[in-house]
Amino acid sequence: MCGIVGYIGPRKAQDVLLKGLSRLEYRGYDSAGIAAISSHAVEMVKRKGKLKVLYEELETHPIKGNVGIGHTRWATHGVPSDANAHPHLDCKARLAVVHNGIIENYSELKDGLIKEGHKFRSETDTEVISHLIEKFYHGNLEAAVHKAARLLKGTYAIAVIHKDEPDKVVGARLDSPLIVGVGKGENFLASDATAVLDYTKNVIYLDNNQVITITRNKVTVKEMSGRTVRKPVTRLKWDVSQAEKGGYSHFMLKEIFEQGDILAKILDERIKGQKIVFEQLKIRGVALKKFKRAAIVACGTAYHAGLAGKYMIEELVKMPCWTDTSSEFRYRDPIVDKDTLVIIVSQSGETADSLAALREAKKKGATVVSICNVLGSSIARESDGVIYTHAGPEIAVASTKAYTAQLAIFYLFTLYLAALRKTIPNSRYAYLLKELKKVPALAQQLLSEYKSEYNSLAAYAQEFKRYYIKQHNKSYFLYLGRNINYPNALEGALKLKEIAYISAEGYPAGEMKHGPIALIDENPWVVCIATQSATYDKMLSNIQEIKARNGIIIAVATEGDKELIHQNINYIIEIPKIDELFSPLLVAIPLQLLAYYVSKEFGHDIDQPRNLAKSVTVE
Ligand code: AGP
Repeated sequence: MCGIVGYIGPRKAQDVLLKGLSRLEYRGYDSAGIAAISSHAVEMVKRKGKLKVLYEELETHPIKGNVGIGHTRWATHGVPSDANAHPHLDCKARLAVVHNGIIENYSELKDGLIKEGHKFRSETDTEVISHLIEKFYHGNLEAAVHKAARLLKGTYAIAVIHKDEPDKVVGARLDSPLIVGVGKGENFLASDATAVLDYTKNVIYLDNNQVITITRNKVTVKEMSGRTVRKPVTRLKWDVSQAEKGGYSHFMLKEIFEQGDILAKILDERIKGQKIVFEQLKIRGVALKKFKRAAIVACGTAYHAGLAGKYMIEELVKMPCWTDTSSEFRYRDPIVDKDTLVIIVSQSGETADSLAALREAKKKGATVVSICNVLGSSIARESDGVIYTHAGPEIAVASTKAYTAQLAIFYLFTLYLAALRKTIPNSRYAYLLKELKKVPALAQQLLSEYKSEYNSLAAYAQEFKRYYIKQHNKSYFLYLGRNINYPNALEGALKLKEIAYISAEGYPAGEMKHGPIALIDENPWVVCIATQSATYDKMLSNIQEIKARNGIIIAVATEGDKELIHQNINYIIEIPKIDELFSPLLVAIPLQLLAYYVSKEFGHDIDQPRNLAKSVTVE
């Protein structure tokens, strides 16, 4: 939920920290701050508001020094304010701390520290860390951080500097991500690798309960026991351009348009002739054949991908499969055991509820496979097997390319299981693989229709804005889908909610008669996913029932559909013809773009929508 950076080396710390925070701003953006050590004093500037407010302040009040830490915040304890922004200092401003996570026992720690005479300046949980380290500091920062960390309950990734030890930055982590960027004569700490990409592609992924000390030329990692551990250096395949907008007005738009290439890359990577390969799965075929049931567990958009995965598993693998949101799964004592395959889906690999769900599943004896996008993330590393989506860094808070990449991995994984368990005839396997291979080109074709910003979806968004105002802001959206496109109805609604702040609800179309149809009058716009499918006629009936009550309809149709044109539909979005099973990969794209253009019409911050953060690493 927040982003932290640390730096030590020959460069001006301020420049490196601000660059790193600009790469991490998608993790939280209600306040930001940096601190550095110059001539044996800690200098700090922090401000409420987005990173640009801090930039402006530093223009007039720059801070010197080559050792520093920085933070961009998504408030958990204490409102966004200058005082609650990180870094946080000890009583005598001799040390500074930045933190991502939640210290669950902070109030009892704070009470004890106040009794011992410590003076607090903020309402945050984080500030207890700076005073604890102050309490234990006797000339050895690493030892003081060790001692303080042992008392902390909850989650943390921290970076600490001390004016009496200006040749190092010390960090520690528990259930919040922290990586080391390994440079030449310089080293970095960061919440994720995008913050160091401008300087190095060599990273070290840190594990829980480890304390890290970085100097200009050395990285030392110790366990809580004090034992030094050797950590491998991973060479990232990403490059800086992937963390830039590349000429698009928003990261979200760039990531939507990357989907054709990413789907092509995923299929090329995983389909070798008629075989499908998962090099890091580390779960042998003989084990995969044994499972009697599957559970797919995730949050938000990843949950919607998992819900589509359920349809695939039941249709192709003929195995019972259910889905749970991670926050429900982890608290409801789920019935999972050694015969259950639990699939955790998470773009960031750091979502607190999904990480907890993973641990709950393993505690109950289940085998866990995760589908993640961030290499070396906590969920990836704690799974029995991981399938990386390799979609590249997804910067926009609203997930798009990660969603279709997750869908693609589900298609591949379920086909892989179906072949392994012989649950579909070879002929159907060959047909489906051939059909799946068509998708990337069809996605590119579909995207090319929206290359110009003056396209039909932008026009629909303008129309909606005009209508919304005419209806005195009473208009909203309903998204209806059936079968494997029902998850897309949920996903389309979520996209609109999170970036356009317009009320929207996704529903299985068959449920309309059981209540929601009472909503239909001239206010709601109803997106009907009416692509060619086994339930197409049922969707036509839904459309007629909505039209009969003056509802306004946007229909997503298969191109060349002659039937829908006669239904007097207000707006039609066409997608290329593809087997119903794979249509979600294409239907998702115009729904993402519709949300994008509506948000743009209303002038919202598309990449960093209010109240949200990219990775929900706190509960
Ligand atoms: C999706 O647009 C949202 N950003 C959010 O629902 C997200 O999908 C959810 O928080 C799960 O994140 P994860 O995939 O990183 O676990």
